[in-house]
Formats: sequence, C-alpha cells, structure tokens
Amino acid sequence: MPRTFLFNYIIPTALGFVGGALAVHYFAQTPKKRITVDILSAASKQKWKGRSILSVKDISREDLDELFEVADQMDEIVQKQGTCDLCSDSVLTAIFYEPSTRTRCSFEAAFQRLGGKVVSIADARSQSSVKKGETIEDTIRCLQTYSDVIAMRHPQKGSAKQAASVADVPILNGGDGPGEHPTQALLDCYTIYRHCGEVDGKTITLVGDLKYGRTVHSLAVLLTRFKDVTINCVSPPSLAMPDEFLEFVGKFPGITIKEYTTLDTVLPSSDVVYMTRIQKERFPNVEDYEKVNGYFILCKKTIDDHGKKGMKIMHPLPRVNEIATDVDDLEEAVYFDEMRCGMLIRMALFCCVLGKC
Ligand code: NCD
Repeated sequence: MPRTFLFNYIIPTALGFVGGALAVHYFAQTPKKRITVDILSAASKQKWKGRSILSVKDISREDLDELFEVADQMDEIVQKQGTCDLCSDSVLTAIFYEPSTRTRCSFEAAFQRLGGKVVSIADARSQSSVKKGETIEDTIRCLQTYSDVIAMRHPQKGSAKQAASVADVPILNGGDGPGEHPTQALLDCYTIYRHCGEVDGKTITLVGDLKYGRTVHSLAVLLTRFKDVTINCVSPPSLAMPDEFLEFVGKFPGITIKEYTTLDTVLPSSDVVYMTRIQKERFPNVEDYEKVNGYFILCKKTIDDHGKKGMKIMHPLPRVNEIATDVDDLEEAVYFDEMRCGMLIRMALFCCVLGKC
C-alpha cells in the first residue's frame, strides 16, 4: 500500500471512526440536565408533603388546580427527555391484592420516570406474607421500613384508611374494593380538562355498573369540586348509583345529578360519556351478572345518530363489551389517552406528596 494513501486516507478515516465512537459514548454517559419543578407556594408544599390520598372527599378545587399544573409540567418532561431525577432519592412500594394492569403499571412507570426505585408486589394474596395470615397493618409497618411512599389496592372497602392509620409514609389508594378509586378520579378529571379545555359547565354521563364501580363513585364526588356540572347516571335499575353518593353529590349547589336507565336520551347533551365495565367479580351470584351483561354497548352508529358534536368517550378500562371496537378510531374516543393522563397525574401526585415540586 503506498505510504501517501495510508497517511491521507486510511489513518484519518480510522481516527474519525474512533473519535465518533468516543463522542457517542461521552454523550450517552452525560447525565440529563437536572430538573427542578418549583410550582407550589410554600403553604401548598406544606399541605401536600407527607399526605395520603385515600378518598376524593379530601381533595379540594385548589388541590386539583395545583395537580393539573404539575401534571402539565410532567407532560413536558416526559415529551422532552422521557425521564428525570426528581424522585431519584426515593423508593415506592406498589402492593396489589387485586388484579390490575393500568393502575399498578402506571404508578410504577410514573415513579420510574421520576427516577425513583420501585418494589412491586403484583399479587399480594399469593406472593406475600398475607398468605401466612399477616394483617394489613403489619404488612404496611414492614413495607414502610423499605419505602418512602406506598401505592396499594385491596378488595376490602376501607382498607386504604386502615393502612394509613399505621403508616408514617403516604398511602395512595389504588382502589379499595367497591369503595373508592381516588387516583383514577383525579386522572379522569385531568383527562376531561385536557380534552374539553375545562371541567366547569360540562355534562358528564356515567354509564354501566354504578353500584359496584368504584371509579364512578370517586368521579361523581370529585366532580362536585367544579362549577355548574351536570352528572347523568345511566345504569340498569339493579346497578344504580348508591344512595350514599347520590345524596352526597346532591347537596352541592350548582351540581345537578339525575338517574336514567337508557342512554339515547342523554347522549345529545353529553360532553363526556364515561362507560364502565359490569363488575362481574363483585356480584353475589353469576345469574344476576348474566341478567345485566351487555346491557349497554356503545357503537359508532349510536354516536353518529345521537352524540353531541365534540363529545368525548372515556372508560377507565379494562373494557369487556361495553364499547365496540369501531369506536376506537373516532376522534371522540379518548380512553387510550386517558391512560397516559393517568401516568402524568400519578407523577404529579408523587412529586407533591414527596415534596419535590
Ligand atoms: C378500574 C378498577 O380497577 O376499578 N380500572 C382501573 O383502575 N383502571 C375499572 C374496572 O376494573 O372495571
């Protein structure tokens, strides 16, 4: 090989490759820009820090406005850089005694996107000392030794409160049986705010199993924090919204709550239609479930024939058969984006209760 060819081409090309590889390595190793999120006033920071989220009854309008602002900021962080290190000094334990895909994974994904570490018990009934007879209280005493915050789901109404009564770290209720599902209601309101511009003045129609469905219990209560909201409760007569919630919501001036057994009449005035699954696992017997299975099925034709222009279809998911798949690609369908809103609102919650914003 002539020397000039070696010096003019081969060596410079090889050096170029090595330099490029070193540069890629250097930038891949360079830590992402440190993020600080300073949104809350000193008084709000103090109000949030260390707080458990057990029931929507404890959430104020001011809390909602603050959370939405932090969640918008989380959206920017996720879009710009995917993850950050706001909670890199913290550990979350997610303990779920009931099946879950979205709630557990979004708590965990939210925490990981904040740079935190996660201890996960996905099936506490078979994979923890509960199987040996340990009480909720003792399990929580144990887990808080390892973690800074605990997210839990349990089949018993009131179980999250029971856990919080012995906990020194914040407990986030991911669903307590047929009781409440506060973080779902927060993400539902955030989804309405993002897709409708605001929640005030909207007509929200809740459809399906309003008796056993905890998401609609929490959502109906949380909607009372907004102004001039109309809530339509549409269900089979046997699965009506429990009186406890109708009475609570009915006391708020400016909030209207009405019950229906058919959907078509309220569709033309609904800004949001919130479909829910019939909660098969909570029925005392399978015959009663079969009587109401498939009672409401929302399809494209119903929306085309009766839907209000610009209306949004939501669902906490999982769906069984209550929304036909021909709805999925419509502009009205926001239930898949609802899941992303869930991760953002849970990121916001972690930042607030751990004092990171
Ligand atoms: C709901 C739940 O678990 O309550 N899902 C959810 O958390 N996203 C709704 C349901 O199971 O039907």
